[in-house]
Amino acid sequence: MSKRTYLPAAGSDWLLPFYDPFTRLLGVEVVHRQLIEQAGIRPGDRVLEIGCGTGNLSILAKRLQPTAEIIGMDPDPKALIRARRKAECAGAAMHFDQGFSEGLPYPDGSFDKVLSALMFHHLQPDAKKLALLETRRVLRSAGSLHLVDFSAGNGRPHGFLARLVHHRHGSQSDDTVIALMREAGFHEPRELAHQAHILGRITYYGADFIP
Ligand SMILES: C[S@@+](CC[C@H](N)C(=O)[O-])C[C@H]1O[C@@H](n2cnc3c(N)ncnc32)[C@H](O)[C@@H]1O
Repeated sequence: MSKRTYLPAAGSDWLLPFYDPFTRLLGVEVVHRQLIEQAGIRPGDRVLEIGCGTGNLSILAKRLQPTAEIIGMDPDPKALIRARRKAECAGAAMHFDQGFSEGLPYPDGSFDKVLSALMFHHLQPDAKKLALLETRRVLRSAGSLHLVDFSAGNGRPHGFLARLVHHRHGSQSDDTVIALMREAGFHEPRELAHQAHILGRITYYGADFIP
């Protein structure tokens, strides 16, 4: 089998130190907060973030719902070092695993919620299908997926910054994401909200797993 590769958070390893300051400047925490609110994480829930990068969403989720067990997962060891360091500094008892969303290193039915922020557009079309099948597999009955990402609702992103940031990513329409979720066996995949952002349109999706 060929070795899996991935597109890192900031596009290249050398840019990783700039990822947190850049996304902070662009208000990504507001996006993370909205996703966590939509997910409705309850005390004691077991939650997985796929493509957690430097851990900002996972750490925020732990801060907002301290009794939930939050696990962040990403293929990038350098991003995970940063995530672990930040969680430790924040006193957040949680852990981060290395792995790919196309082959999740967790047993069937082991999470109540799966979160994904600004990651899905990093995946090739086949990897997107596998990632959704894997997500469904690791969800418990009545568990749910909450995903936010750039979408091509209004065509390709325009503006210098958006083109610069997305030049290595494919584009995906809201309809495609929802169709892929349905194909993977999710119940009533839906768009929950969208917003205009300097980096392009951002769409929030939700989908349930009802066996
Ligand atoms: C733009 S970053 C988003 C990080 C984080 N979710 C956030 O909101 O700040 C995209 C992340 O997806 C990860 N990624 C890329 N390919 C992946 C894959 N096949 N499976 C899981 N994560 C992947 C990258 O390593 C990167 O950390």
